[in-house]
Amino acid sequence: MNSVIIEAKKIVKKFTRPLDVEVLSGVDLTVHGGESVAIMGRSGEGKSTLLQILGTLEESDSGDLSIAGIPVTPANTTTIRRNRLAFVFQSYHLLEDYTVLENVLMPAKIARLPTHEGSESHKRALELLEMTGLTHRANFHTKLLSGGEKQRTAIARALCNDPDLILADEPSGNLDEETAAIIHDLLLTFAKNKGKALILVTHHLPLAEMCDRKFNLHSGLLHQF
Ligand SMILES: Nc1ncnc2c1ncn2[C@@H]1O[C@H](COP(=O)(O)OP(=O)(O)OP(=O)(O)O)[C@@H](O)[C@H]1O
Ligand SMILES: [Mg+2]
Repeated sequence: MNSVIIEAKKIVKKFTRPLDVEVLSGVDLTVHGGESVAIMGRSGEGKSTLLQILGTLEESDSGDLSIAGIPVTPANTTTIRRNRLAFVFQSYHLLEDYTVLENVLMPAKIARLPTHEGSESHKRALELLEMTGLTHRANFHTKLLSGGEKQRTAIARALCNDPDLILADEPSGNLDEETAAIIHDLLLTFAKNKGKALILVTHHLPLAEMCDRKFNLHSGLLHQF
């Protein structure tokens, strides 16, 4: 078994405005490298909230979170987020006036790594474009791409800094079924082959079934099914 990548214990999250709602009531989740987990659940059950907390984008009210064996604290969230995590969202959040390659290199640029031709990051970006089937689109501005191509660009960008954990919130929510399956396959293959952990929120049961484990988030708790 690969090592534990993320361990969440008794995660609680309440919102107090405009109404008191306890969205998460003590969620436990452990995911190992190479393992994929699907989270399903009705709209408003708290799937995105959970993913944001697991991804250190939002704080829980109580509970413990550790990533790659390191307990997450306010002092180390930025470092952990930058070095260990990747996010893929339903809307792609690409920089539309930049090319596909420039978008994929953006995390490396933000981390102040060299990105010129021949650099490690540049080589890696080209490999990711190959893997996502976008080599022929490298120099296209992303606004010219189809939805599936945009999501593949977003995935290549998410993987550019070699994260340990990929968090995907309805990554195929805006795509047709066939394209959605391609996107899921890409994420699952990458997780499996490279020993990464993948946590994926989806409304599509067939896509959830492609994952190693699947959970329903209901009444603030995860139920494996
Ligand atoms: N910042 C906030 N303040 C108050 N309530 C919030 C806030 N963010 C989310 N909520 C509430 O928490 C609940 C869970 O929201 P969340 O977005 O996590 O649901 P979800 O399961 O991802 O739904 P969907 O399937 O529609 O994306 C909802 O009732 C939402 O209104
Ligand atoms: Mg959501």
